[in-house]
Amino acid sequence: MPYIQDLDDPDLDPNMLLFHHAQLGSICGMEDALKKGANINSCFNLVGSSALHFAASCTGRVGTDAVRWLLEKGIGWYKTDENGLTEAEVAKAHGNEESSMVLRECYVHSEYLVYYKALGGDDHPNNSNPFQKMRMDHEGDNKHFCRSSVAYTRPLGAPDDEVAMICATREQHGTGVMMEWERPIMHETARRLLDGMPRSGLRVLNVGFGIGMIDTYLQEVHPAEHVIIEAHPQCLAWMRSKGWYDRPGVRILEGRWQEFLMAIPGSNANPTNDIGDVPRPIDIGKFDIVYFDTFAEGYHGHFAFIRHVPRLLRGPGSRFSFFDCRPHWVCCRYLMTLLPWLPPHVLISPGFSSIEKLPHGTTMTWA
Ligand SMILES: C[S@@+](CC[C@H](N)C(=O)[O-])C[C@H]1O[C@@H](n2cnc3c(N)ncnc32)[C@H](O)[C@@H]1O
Repeated sequence: MPYIQDLDDPDLDPNMLLFHHAQLGSICGMEDALKKGANINSCFNLVGSSALHFAASCTGRVGTDAVRWLLEKGIGWYKTDENGLTEAEVAKAHGNEESSMVLRECYVHSEYLVYYKALGGDDHPNNSNPFQKMRMDHEGDNKHFCRSSVAYTRPLGAPDDEVAMICATREQHGTGVMMEWERPIMHETARRLLDGMPRSGLRVLNVGFGIGMIDTYLQEVHPAEHVIIEAHPQCLAWMRSKGWYDRPGVRILEGRWQEFLMAIPGSNANPTNDIGDVPRPIDIGKFDIVYFDTFAEGYHGHFAFIRHVPRLLRGPGSRFSFFDCRPHWVCCRYLMTLLPWLPPHVLISPGFSSIEKLPHGTTMTWA
């Protein structure tokens, strides 16, 4: 908590003044601090709490008004403090349900804006909000990632058979692409996707091999056809070394999925292809199961892929699922957003409770 002895001290850091008034829920005080030069996006003591965290910790109506005011002023949101709590979580921890709800709605609203932009295929808005900007900068990096260096490595202290796929560039060294902790998610996803599926003549498509967790689980039922689209040359080399090219029924399409799924028939909007993608004119077929889990794609890539899904599904009972590590309530909204523009024969199965337990997308069923 910022402790200030003398509010009239002319040498007082205006950011401290901002934090002080935010935690009291004083809008006049925060206005004064901004006039004195406070940076609305500054963080206290470098520990991560912003004025929004402090306002979120303020109880009652005063606190909620302060939160709303800061949001209207354009403060960055969805930041974690030193305890790893977002502003909404801080509000909840201090018993301010209304502030928590306002903050959650704000996150969802911002997600929507990004979604709709992605749906329209437009460039993302040039937003000056630093936190938002950070997220957007991350998007569109997919091509760059597919050409960058990765490593297959055994995490320090992990058992001999454990492997992680990590970024090996200077800027992103060590960032996990696929890690062991994701195994239960992949296992459960494969279980749900395969549950009740006919075992004979099964056709599955997985986009993004990583360390092959989900493909290994899908292989357990010996699909008649198992197509894997994988873009990264080092991943492809690793797959070769592990014998994936020789497995019966496995067909590996080397390249970005964007190269194989270029045009959406009957659709004017074609957000899929990026400039410079070389189309591969092959019909990859239709599948009983489609799974999607790539890296550095952003919303644009997600949406673009999902638009292809209806025509990749083979028929009634076919299933699609994808990895999504955002909070479950954001995933739910995301799925609701998809509904209006999916063909009427495609249903999203109402298994939202499952998302609460698993941080990934749900199953879409061709009905
Ligand atoms: C998170 S890993 C997938 C992990 C996988 N689900 C598993 O169970 O191990 C993402 C993979 O997608 C691949 N990838 C990234 N962008 C791609 C793209 N545009 N097309 C195809 N593969 C892509 C990456 O090279 C990486 O192997």
